[in-house]
Amino acid sequence: MIGQAVDRVDGPLKATGRATYAYEHWEAGQPLYGFIVGATIGKGRITRIDTEDAEGAPGVQLVMTYLNAPAQGPRDESIPFEYWRAQPMLTGPDVHFYGEPVALVVAETFEQARDAADLVEIEYRAGRGRFDFGEFEDDTYIPKTVNAGLPTDTAVGDFDAGFAGAEVKVDEQYTTPYEFSLPIEPNASMVAPRGEDLVVYVSCQITDAARDSVAATLMMDPERVHIVTPFVGGGFGSKLGIHSETILAALAARTLGRPVKLTLTRQQVFQLVGMRPTSNQRVRLGAGRDGQLAAIAHDVTMHTNPDVEFAEQTAATVRSLYAAPHRLTSHRLTALDLPRGTDVRAPGEAPGMLSVESAMDELADALGMDPVELRIRNEPTVDPERNVPYSDRHLVECLREGARRFGWENRPATPASVREGRWLIGYGMSAAIRGHFQGPTTVRVRLEPDGTAVIQTDMTDIGTGTYTILTQVGAEGLGLPLERVRIDPGRSDHPSSWGSGGSWGATNSSTAAHRACAALRTKLLDAACGDTRSPLHGRDPADAVFSDGNVAIGDASEALREIVARHHPDGVEAEGKTRFMGDDPNYSDYSINTYGAHFAEVGVDADTAEIRLRRMLSVFSVGRVFNPKTARSQLIGGMIWGVGAALEEEAVVDPRSGAFVNRDFAGYLVPVHGDIPADIDAVVLEGYDDKANALGAKGIGEVGICGSGAAVANAVFNATGVRVRDFPITIEKLL
Ligand code: MOS
Repeated sequence: MIGQAVDRVDGPLKATGRATYAYEHWEAGQPLYGFIVGATIGKGRITRIDTEDAEGAPGVQLVMTYLNAPAQGPRDESIPFEYWRAQPMLTGPDVHFYGEPVALVVAETFEQARDAADLVEIEYRAGRGRFDFGEFEDDTYIPKTVNAGLPTDTAVGDFDAGFAGAEVKVDEQYTTPYEFSLPIEPNASMVAPRGEDLVVYVSCQITDAARDSVAATLMMDPERVHIVTPFVGGGFGSKLGIHSETILAALAARTLGRPVKLTLTRQQVFQLVGMRPTSNQRVRLGAGRDGQLAAIAHDVTMHTNPDVEFAEQTAATVRSLYAAPHRLTSHRLTALDLPRGTDVRAPGEAPGMLSVESAMDELADALGMDPVELRIRNEPTVDPERNVPYSDRHLVECLREGARRFGWENRPATPASVREGRWLIGYGMSAAIRGHFQGPTTVRVRLEPDGTAVIQTDMTDIGTGTYTILTQVGAEGLGLPLERVRIDPGRSDHPSSWGSGGSWGATNSSTAAHRACAALRTKLLDAACGDTRSPLHGRDPADAVFSDGNVAIGDASEALREIVARHHPDGVEAEGKTRFMGDDPNYSDYSINTYGAHFAEVGVDADTAEIRLRRMLSVFSVGRVFNPKTARSQLIGGMIWGVGAALEEEAVVDPRSGAFVNRDFAGYLVPVHGDIPADIDAVVLEGYDDKANALGAKGIGEVGICGSGAAVANAVFNATGVRVRDFPITIEKLL
């Protein structure tokens, strides 16, 4: 079952509208509707609030501002990750960023709440905000740590000397804009009081983080907060934690003693859930004429919110990518009065590889060398900064296989040399690497008396395929047909997982489920082989084969259902676990990553500079794949996001107010079907990484976006001879 292209088991529920999302849990009772009023200044202070008209509007039950909001727990920086911390809201008159919640209106209907929100009168004294990254990017400080706990700076050898002595050099600045996760389902929650408890239906990626964050904010016992999130309409980082949609709904639900639901509008999503920081990246590469890198430096400056420090690990990727004796990486922050930076798909790797892999293309051009060959020449034998072997690195195979399948030998050798009618044609490529993570995860597998299995975990399915692959793992582990395995995910009352994020969800939860099945098999065999009533009595459990709902040992067999009915009339269960990577020696003894190589062909209109992607092919090495269908969808989704990063995505700040001016899908462009050709494919090399986990599988959610934008950018250069380093590459930058 593992490795088969099984159709999504939750697909029919989604296609028929029966999958229940956070805003749709009617079983909680008739809800009230909340609507958030956001600040219309980016920095300053509220000087007057008048809620009288709003409170008198039809259907309104509550208008909450800092003047009447309940006391809340403080953010606790000793909790290592932001997503588990309290997030007090409406705590005072100060405004920290444009759109920050300054009032919550709760009414009988959504329309009433939204209408009354307009009647809340607020006056401000606006202060001088720091909104413009360009103005303040030299005013930097060193972050305490870099996201995922990585060091801020690294140095190996003597970069200055190595770079000075290099025969061929690249020294360029690349900039990347604010980017957003923007899942189809906006951040939403519905909070229902049940006695002293709160049931929180919320669209989130990490269930126990949501529970702890709600509990800490409302100063409740976490056991009294029950997160329910069976379906999530996409996350991409924006739902790793919860936000105002949940905290404010919870405060209102407790105040009113009724269920309250609250969704962010799309425009509010742009202001209230955080974004990928904007960055300015200096990349320096020094090499010999043979293409051998002597020196690599990647220095990154990016924005942070002053209250919630976040340093995306943008310069960390190059630490494990290419060999070079002299190396330097650094991260710096400049505080701006903008919403917090946060994890957005492939945090760090996505913007970092866009720059580094563009710089590698510039180096190849300066050397007159094929960019595939340049990368192969700099393939390391051990992780060059950690000095440990790679667990399972097949980057060169990805490069060679991709080049072969793509027809890379037809690449225009000289930029701007191939034209088809109006179109200048270019080829580009890039490498991809992404770290693989493992976190503490527990999964429970229950066998019911009717012989069906239920897999219980607080792990979420954010659209990635958790339902399907856990079904496959359970079916294989217990020898059951797929239709007799049911997945019950996304409840904080179930055993705790590391959730969906960082590309770790599938491998953590599958490995834990695999172990739970093994423990359950042992329980069943102990019961049957030790029982004179079983045909398996006295047989050696080591020879047992589980298939089709039966256990066979030699010529004897018995149905699982009968073993359960006889020994465990209420069903039987077992748990399996994975442990934190820091406690697993494989993760310190080896550099465990996923790899890929992207190839893109673009056409650029010679007159208008319109850029069209014509085809794209990427080859990946990710260890073992649970399900080629869900895997392909993850990988292609990532690749397409890379196309967006190269050509389209960019949120623009109004330097007067700190507002994002293009905060909707009309103004913030993402690739749509018309932008993406049918000729796009993701190929995965056969693999198994025995250092990663017992199933040999590694995460695939984010490696697709790593480097894919650079392949497109490099193709644009190859087509036009124009190098744009200020992403996205929009038409006016090419003219
Ligand atoms: Mo991902 S940015 O860890 O959801």
